[in-house]
Amino acid sequence: MNYKVAVIPGDGIGPEIVDEAKKVLNAVGAKYGHEFDYTEVLMGGVSIDKTGVPLTDEALETAKASDAVLLGAVGGVVGKDSWYELPTNLRPEAGLLAIRKGLGLFANLRPAYLYKELKGACPLKEEVAEKGFDMIIVRELTGGLYFGKRETKEVDGVLTATDTLTYNENEIRRIAKKAFDIAMKRRKNVISVDKSNVLDSSRLWDKIVNEVAKDYPEVTLTHMLVDNCAMQLVKDPAQFDVVVTENMFGDILSDEASMVTGSIGMLSSASLREDKFGLYEPSHGAAPDIAGQDKANPIATILSAAMMLRYSFDLDKEADAIEKAVEQVLEEGFRTIDIAKQGEDFVSCSKMGSLIAERV
Ligand code: NAD
Ligand code: IPM
Ligand code: MN
Repeated sequence: MNYKVAVIPGDGIGPEIVDEAKKVLNAVGAKYGHEFDYTEVLMGGVSIDKTGVPLTDEALETAKASDAVLLGAVGGVVGKDSWYELPTNLRPEAGLLAIRKGLGLFANLRPAYLYKELKGACPLKEEVAEKGFDMIIVRELTGGLYFGKRETKEVDGVLTATDTLTYNENEIRRIAKKAFDIAMKRRKNVISVDKSNVLDSSRLWDKIVNEVAKDYPEVTLTHMLVDNCAMQLVKDPAQFDVVVTENMFGDILSDEASMVTGSIGMLSSASLREDKFGLYEPSHGAAPDIAGQDKANPIATILSAAMMLRYSFDLDKEADAIEKAVEQVLEEGFRTIDIAKQGEDFVSCSKMGSLIAERV
């Protein structure tokens, strides 16, 4: 089969990690007889520099016309990149928000799994790491603070900035359903995370999640406040199966969950809607501090490519092959610098990609 993949390298380490994911996809193609046709799409800082905007209409159209999108990352050095003076809607990250919204990708799945080989890289107590964990964060991706009304203006002579957090019941219902459907294929345990002791939007979140839960009598639903969840993630991550939460809580909690797997360089993600289309990207950012040095961990992006095969193309055995190859390189002791122990040998980003591709 022939699959059209829109590829967005983006900024920072984006081009490096995307190259490794393509290397692995090509190895899958060669072994299983598939062809991946890549069309490069500009987004983020590189797009601003070339076109003046972080995502052009043509770029969005190219993404729409593809079967799936593979993305690296966008953005520059926090607080001092060359796009710093731009208004929020013209910054590199605005391109990412525009493509998520433009493609209708409301469900962001971020699986956090502790490989047994990486227990030593997990920063938690030994007995907690020993237990291991396997969770998936289901993050609402096209609502909440990211897409609310925002403005900065003077109010009574005082500069005042506003962001608004809005959810309607339909947005909550569809992400809740997604989470329960995923739970049915896992350990049938959903923890809904919100701030319902304070926020109206969280009260509505609770109510709708409870309604959806009635259609899934086999699934155990627990409500957890977001501050407690942040704590529980480092105290006892094994208690989590499926976590469903709103956009910004999911953003923050997924970075936290990533670190307990050993490194943010391990956390893949899939952004989905109701049909088969999806955008696949690591959960981390452009890591400008290590860009251009061939030392980023490409595993999150490679595992995201595996999610693309599974969710968008129904290529389960091919996705399994990538996941097994990742496990195998870890078993064989290969590490990038972020997951290596101090003083331990490590391999480059491109070497890690090649090792995984060879094992597909
Ligand atoms: P970041 O995730 O880019 O980096 C945080 C830390 O993790 C850095 O020390 C970095 O070196 C390290 N890191 C990240 N990915 C790694 C990998 N694959 N291998 C090894 N180490 C890795 O977050 P940040 O520093 O807060 O943001 C940098 C830029 O990236 C900002 O402009 C931000 O807006 C953007 N960003 C983009 C995305 C995205 O495109 N999806 C996500 C998050 C942040
Ligand atoms: C992520 C990133 C993005 C987000 C930014 C870059 C807009 O942090 O994908 O986690 O907050 O969603
Ligand atoms: Mn994030």
